[in-house]
Amino acid sequence: MKKTILAGTLVAGVLALSFTIHNEEPGYKNLKILPKNISKEQMDSVMHHFTAALGQKCNFCHVRNNDSTRTWDFASDANKHKGMAREMMLMTNKINKQNFEFAGDPKKLDTKLMVTCFTCHNGKVEPATIPPPREQRQQPQPQAGTDSVRVKQ
Ligand code: HEC
Ligand code: HEC
Repeated sequence: MKKTILAGTLVAGVLALSFTIHNEEPGYKNLKILPKNISKEQMDSVMHHFTAALGQKCNFCHVRNNDSTRTWDFASDANKHKGMAREMMLMTNKINKQNFEFAGDPKKLDTKLMVTCFTCHNGKVEPATIPPPREQRQQPQPQAGTDSVRVKQ
């Protein structure tokens, strides 16, 4: 739960939050949106929010070195999805600032309503634009004539 809030916070209020971040710097090389002094723990939290929100792995946005080591080059911008994700971070931040109470204010961390990557993506790359057909929805149907909800045994 704490992690979710942290990831949401970083995604939603990244710029406003930079002053709350620890001093120890893991030395990331190519941050254009996240605070430069973000801790490793917080970076991991944001990146895991991204993978979970889109239902993807790190390689959806990041490339590996093109040598025999095949180690990750997380700082590289060679993958176009990384650029797209940056635009999405700015967009998400803007939506929250303009419309929701949270507005990037770290003192309002308990605000429940804010938009994160998961709000739209819901575990998929392409956000749904229409609800699923009626028969696929899983909500229990209220019984005719009562307010109670039938629970199947
Ligand atoms: C949806 C796209 C996306 C996914 C998936 C993703 N990342 Fe990232 N990652 C980014 C973006 C965008 C940045 C740059 C953020 C910025 O510019 O502030 C970044 C930056 C980083 C950096 C900092 C690199 C540097 O030195 O500048 C690391 C480390 C990193 N990601 C690790 C990971 C790991 C590990 C995973 C898998 C668990 C992952 N990322 C999944 C989009 C993604
Ligand atoms: C307000 C809804 C919304 C939010 C919030 C949102 N996205 Fe998106 N995202 C979309 C839509 C819609 C598309 C499809 C756009 C298109 O295909 O042109 C998309 C596309 C993308 C793509 C490109 C996928 C591709 O196939 O190239 C990436 C990457 C992405 N989003 C990452 C993110 C990340 C990371 C966040 C959180 C920082 C985020 N999105 C937040 C609506 C959203």
